[in-house]
Amino acid sequence: MTHAPGELLAPATFALDPAFAIAAVDRRLFGSFVEHMGRCVYTGIYEAEHPSADTDGFRRDVLDLTRELGVSLVRYPGGNFVSSYRWQDGVGPRAQRPTRLDLAWRGIEPNEVGLNEFMVWAREAAVEPMMAVNLGTGGVQDAVDLIEYANHGEGTFFSDLRRSHGVKEPHDIALWCLGNELDGPWQMGQKTPYEYGRLAAETGKAMRMVDPRIELVAVGSSNSRMPTFGTWERVVLEQTYDQVDYISLHDYYEPIGDDLASFVASSVDMDAFIDAVVATADGVGAQLRSRKRLKLSFDEWNVWYQSRFVGQQNLDWTFARELIEDEFTVADAVVVGGLLITLLRHADRVGVACQAQLVNVIAPIRTRAGGPAWRQTIFHPFALTARLARGSVLRVEVSGPTVPTAAFGAVAALDATATYDEATGGVVVLAVNRSLDQALPVDVDLRAVVDRHGDLVVTEHQLIADDDAGASNTEATPDRVVPRTGSGASVRDRHLHCLLPPLSWTVIQLEPSVPGPPTP
Ligand code: AHR
Repeated sequence: MTHAPGELLAPATFALDPAFAIAAVDRRLFGSFVEHMGRCVYTGIYEAEHPSADTDGFRRDVLDLTRELGVSLVRYPGGNFVSSYRWQDGVGPRAQRPTRLDLAWRGIEPNEVGLNEFMVWAREAAVEPMMAVNLGTGGVQDAVDLIEYANHGEGTFFSDLRRSHGVKEPHDIALWCLGNELDGPWQMGQKTPYEYGRLAAETGKAMRMVDPRIELVAVGSSNSRMPTFGTWERVVLEQTYDQVDYISLHDYYEPIGDDLASFVASSVDMDAFIDAVVATADGVGAQLRSRKRLKLSFDEWNVWYQSRFVGQQNLDWTFARELIEDEFTVADAVVVGGLLITLLRHADRVGVACQAQLVNVIAPIRTRAGGPAWRQTIFHPFALTARLARGSVLRVEVSGPTVPTAAFGAVAALDATATYDEATGGVVVLAVNRSLDQALPVDVDLRAVVDRHGDLVVTEHQLIADDDAGASNTEATPDRVVPRTGSGASVRDRHLHCLLPPLSWTVIQLEPSVPGPPTP
C-alpha cells in the first residue's frame, strides 16, 4: 500500500482482552545501569563539590531525576569496566584506596566510589542493586570474597571487614551478573563459550554456597551480530543451566547512514533477538530434560551512535572524561519508546532490563560538572512507561498498514502493547507510528474490558512527536523536547479511537468511568 505524503494511513486495529494476559509487568523491566565509565559516576551520580551534593557527595539533582525517571533497579559497576576491576580497591578508608588504570575505557579510576557508596546511593534513589562480578581477570575466589563481604552477616574475615568499614548490616544483594560481555575481543579476559560456561557455573555454585538466596545472570552475546551468537548461548547454557536464573542480552541501536525508516523499526530487531535467545535457552532446557525455564536479562539496551565513537584505543588516560555523551533526538526517543514496547511484549520471558546508562554516558540524564542536570529526549518515554504501565501485559495482535524498510522489509506501521490492571480496570496503550510522513488512525476494541468494568474514558494522553525529528534537549534548552498532551483520543461504542502523528510515540491511559471492582 503506498500513500502520498501527508495522507492518512489506513487504520490499524487490535483488540484487548484480559483473558489473554502475557505476564505481570515486572518493575525490574525499568532498570538502568551505572558504570565507572566517562562521567557516569564521577560528575554524574557523584560530585562531592557540587552545590546540590548531599553529605555523601551524591548530586541531589541527579537523585531527583533518577526517581522521576522511575528506575527500579541499577546494574553496577560495569560493563567492560568490571572485567578488570578489583572490588577490594573500592572499600575501606578512602585515603587508602588506590588509583588505578581502568583498561576498559582508559580511565584513571580513583576508587572514591565503590560498593558501599553505591549501596548508599541506591537506597537514596530507591532502586534495587544488580551487582556484576569480575570474570574477566577475576575468578571464583574474588566473587566468593565479594559476596561474603556484601551479604554475610558477621563473624568471618570479609563480613567483619565490611563491618569495620562502618556497614554493620549485610547488603543482601539479590541479583548478580556473572561477568560482562566475555564473548567480546575488546574484553579483558575474553573467553570461549566453554571456558566462560565452566567458570560461570563454578563461580555461581560457590557464590550460592555463601548465599543460596541469590539470583544469577549468565553472560549472553554482546549483540546478535557477534560471530558466535547462538553458539555462545547454547554452549554457555549447557554448562550453566542449573546454576543460573537468567541469560543476558545486550544491544544498541543507531541509524545506518540516513536510513531513518529502518532505525524507527529497531524494535523488530530487538523482538527477533529476544525470540532467538528464548528458543536457544528452551532448546538447551529440552536437551537437558529440565523443567526450569530460564528468564532473560536484557541488561544493556539503548540507542547509541557507536559510529561516532572514536574507539577506546584512541583515548588518552583521563579521569572522568566526556565519553559517548550522545545528544538524543526526537527520533531516538521514539525508538526508545518502541524498545520499551518490545520489552513489555516479552514480559513472560524478559525479567530484567537495564537501559544503558543512567547519567551522561548514552543516558537519559545529562549533567555539567558544577552545573545543572537535565532530561534528554529519551528520558520521557521511559518515565511515562515506568509510571503508567501497570498490572499485566495483554497480548496485542495488530492488523493494519505496513511501511517499507530497507533493513526489515515491510513492517507494521503500528507497534503497540497494552497493560491492564485487574484491580482498577485501568488500561494503558503504548504505541509507535513507524511511518515517517503519514498519520496513523488506530482503533482498539475494548469490549472485553468494558464487559468487566463498564465504560472506559481516556484519563491521560501523552506523546513524543515534533516537526523536527532531529530536535534535542541541551543545557541551554533543556525542555525543547517534552511530552505533549494529545487530543482527540476517545472511547466510542467501546472502541478507543486515536490518531498517531507520523514518527511518534504515544501513551494513552484509560480508566473505568465508574471506578469499582470488576463485575463477576
Ligand atoms: O554501556 C557501554 C558499554 O557497552 C559497556 O561497558 C559494555 O558492556 C558494552 O559494550
